[in-house]
Amino acid sequence: MNDVLERPVFEARQLTKVFTKAGKTIEVLDGMELSMKSGEVVGILGASGAGKSTLLHIAGGLDWPSSGTVHYGEKDIFSLSEPELAAFRNKRIGFVFQMHYLLSEFTCLENVMMPGIIAGGEKDQVRERAEVLLKQVGLSQRGDHRPGELSGGEQQRAAVARALVNHPSMVLADEPTGNLDARTAASVQDLFLDLNETHGTTFLVVTHNREMASRFHRRFQLRDGVLHQER
Ligand SMILES: Nc1ncnc2c1ncn2[C@@H]1O[C@H](COP(=O)(O)OP(=O)(O)O)[C@@H](O)[C@H]1O
Ligand SMILES: [Mg+2]
Repeated sequence: MNDVLERPVFEARQLTKVFTKAGKTIEVLDGMELSMKSGEVVGILGASGAGKSTLLHIAGGLDWPSSGTVHYGEKDIFSLSEPELAAFRNKRIGFVFQMHYLLSEFTCLENVMMPGIIAGGEKDQVRERAEVLLKQVGLSQRGDHRPGELSGGEQQRAAVARALVNHPSMVLADEPTGNLDARTAASVQDLFLDLNETHGTTFLVVTHNREMASRFHRRFQLRDGVLHQER
């Protein structure tokens, strides 16, 4: 066995997260563990307030755990300095949220290019990559449009393309279809699975959509601060 291939692309160990609000403490994560291989699509289900967004924020280095570690390959992300972590996040992790967060004053193509430019990429190369991605997500005719001129599904597809521009190790998605009607949601689901099959993109997806999760390689319920695998 090739050791490098067997090493998890992502590993969360013994994560805890305690929030204190108005003198009351809430234990949101309580020794949560997750290990993912490259090319896996994993779903996280759970009740509202179970801590799914908290888990995703910590997995993506947007928030710190109270204790525990997150590794991407060999890299322990919470041992990095703030600027190192910000750079790692930008280059190695793709984010898709329920809201698309596209910048309204930029075109669709410019929005997709943005993380590549921020990462210091050469403009023509970043543009080329962004154009390839727009094609992959079915928006090659929409590059010049502003976000306001796109439908909800197209906006979310553009957000997916933007998440992929720097070839991230993993894409984290928090209820990516939560704002979409059933048919549009299904087309975004199909896009994730297509990207996974065609390019081996690794996804960790929080969703309320059981039908969507049933198509993933593995799915878990987040309950009482830990993950319970579903069959
Ligand atoms: N910054 C914060 N300060 C205090 N409590 C928080 C904070 N963020 C989340 N929480 C609490 O943690 C719990 C989990 O929230 P969240 O991760 O958003 O759940 P989910 O995404 O599963 O709905 C909730 O009880 C929420 O109120
Ligand atoms: Mg949430």
